[in-house]
Amino acid sequence: MSAEMPNDPRLEQAAATDESLISAHEKAAAGEPDTHAHYRLLPLALLFVFSGLIFFGGTYLNRYSGHFHSEIFDERQMPGGGAEAAVVQIDPVVLGRKQYALACITCHQANGQGVPNVYPPLVGSEWVNGSEERVISILLHGLKGPITVEGKTYNAAVMPAFGQVPGGGYNWSDEKIAAVLTYVRQEWGNTGGPIAVAKVTELRNKEANRKEWTEAELLQLP
Ligand code: HEC
Repeated sequence: MSAEMPNDPRLEQAAATDESLISAHEKAAAGEPDTHAHYRLLPLALLFVFSGLIFFGGTYLNRYSGHFHSEIFDERQMPGGGAEAAVVQIDPVVLGRKQYALACITCHQANGQGVPNVYPPLVGSEWVNGSEERVISILLHGLKGPITVEGKTYNAAVMPAFGQVPGGGYNWSDEKIAAVLTYVRQEWGNTGGPIAVAKVTELRNKEANRKEWTEAELLQLP
């Protein structure tokens, strides 16, 4: 090899002397310490943090998972437990508003004003706000013939029966009839009180097989 580096062991192994090998190893060994081989504090701390979180998570699940049993968390269960508590209490005004929109609105209108000379108003009506027995009877069996509401007489159409009458009727439950009446008696500034389901049941049983009422007949009722 070249004359300038006769004994360089990197170039010619056979030419390496003991001294040259030792000095080469000493140089390598005396180099900067290998910092990458050391434990560093931050990753070690993270290891503890994550171990801690995993331990906490496991403990938490063990404590609060209810053993992953499907009955421990049941989103359909009603508060309070017992069988009766699970029966949902429906607000009659909410049910009544729905029933009104389904059935009454076409004739008596959304604002309860009816249609002049055809469908009488429910707003401010003495029939709506007055006697419970009369208004329940109108709903159960219907009404035909002239009727005076707020000083005006209507006779152009028939009020259908929402109970069950011979040959027809909407056949609504007592709950629905009570709810729609409770609703109309408190809506649009009306002041009639709520109507009890039991009262509807009572009158339905009392007049099981009758047809539409007339105004004269209704006025006989209390
Ligand atoms: C098909 C049209 C029609 C529908 C539907 C209808 N009504 Fe009537 N309603 C009438 C007519 C017509 C009269 C007046 C009957 C008459 O002239 O004898 C009347 C009369 C009444 C009366 C007594 C008079 C008054 O204005 O206060 C009440 C109360 C009443 N309806 C409530 C209801 C309720 C509540 C519903 C829904 C559950 C309903 N009606 C559905 C047509 C209807």
